[in-house]
Amino acid sequence: MDASTQISLGQLLADAPRHLRTFAERTARLSKEEKGIRLSEMFFLYAAIADLGPKRIIESGRARAQSTLVLSALFPAASIISIESDPTSPDVAIAAERLKDQRNVECRFGDSRRLLPELLRAGDVVLIDGPKDFRALKLGLRLLRTGKPSAVFVHDLWHGTPARDFIDRHLPSAFLSDSAEWVQSYAALDSRGRMVPAYPANARVVYGATLGCFPASEENYSVRSMQCALAQGIDRLRASARKARRRSLPDRPADFTLAA
Ligand SMILES: C[S@@+](CC[C@H](N)C(=O)[O-])C[C@H]1O[C@@H](n2cnc3c(N)ncnc32)[C@H](O)[C@@H]1O
Repeated sequence: MDASTQISLGQLLADAPRHLRTFAERTARLSKEEKGIRLSEMFFLYAAIADLGPKRIIESGRARAQSTLVLSALFPAASIISIESDPTSPDVAIAAERLKDQRNVECRFGDSRRLLPELLRAGDVVLIDGPKDFRALKLGLRLLRTGKPSAVFVHDLWHGTPARDFIDRHLPSAFLSDSAEWVQSYAALDSRGRMVPAYPANARVVYGATLGCFPASEENYSVRSMQCALAQGIDRLRASARKARRRSLPDRPADFTLAA
């Protein structure tokens, strides 16, 4: 597969079995942080891009470096640049300790909404795990519309959130790690081999935190960027209206509960 071949869920499902053994070998001895991106999601990313042989992967949101460590082990020949906005967090020291032997990782501090567009080069893969929701999606689309990244991954695209609804409605080339076929085959990576119940292929699976892949594609990412900014604006207006409505309600006794 070369960089001009569009990645898709069908391709990913076909390729994944071929990549499973290498994934398992490279991640077997890594220490694990419960807080980070799940293994089934990291396998989703790995199987989607392993054949592209990315030279650089830029990550936004390092925290305790669970995803950073896994990326570093999975792509030993790539440089991993990890951006974190909070230099004062207690996670910083934990991440530094966990990454101290990883020669291919460069840790930076700053807001990736500023740094990522400056750093981005043709062929880069980007993983966004902070900021979140519409801010993450807007950043991803802004990068994609430059035509440079071969793929952008965004984490925590939970079912039922406005950002996820936007993807389901407007971004048909995107595919997500909570697709029934993926969960069915690989969620066991998160539960030490425990089986996951059988879902019909077209089921709407609610598997929690979800990784989305936005491939370089024929999608008009400039238009999608504008639509996304508009959807975020509408969502903010709705949230303000809800807040104002709540504030205008008369004071209720402490034990009052709404029926629905
Ligand atoms: C969920 S944690 C990341 C977890 C990490 N990817 C892992 O798997 O262990 C999110 C992190 O993103 C950082 N963050 C939030 N907004 C950011 C931004 N605009 N630029 C860079 N980092 C950001 C937060 O400070 C936080 O440490």
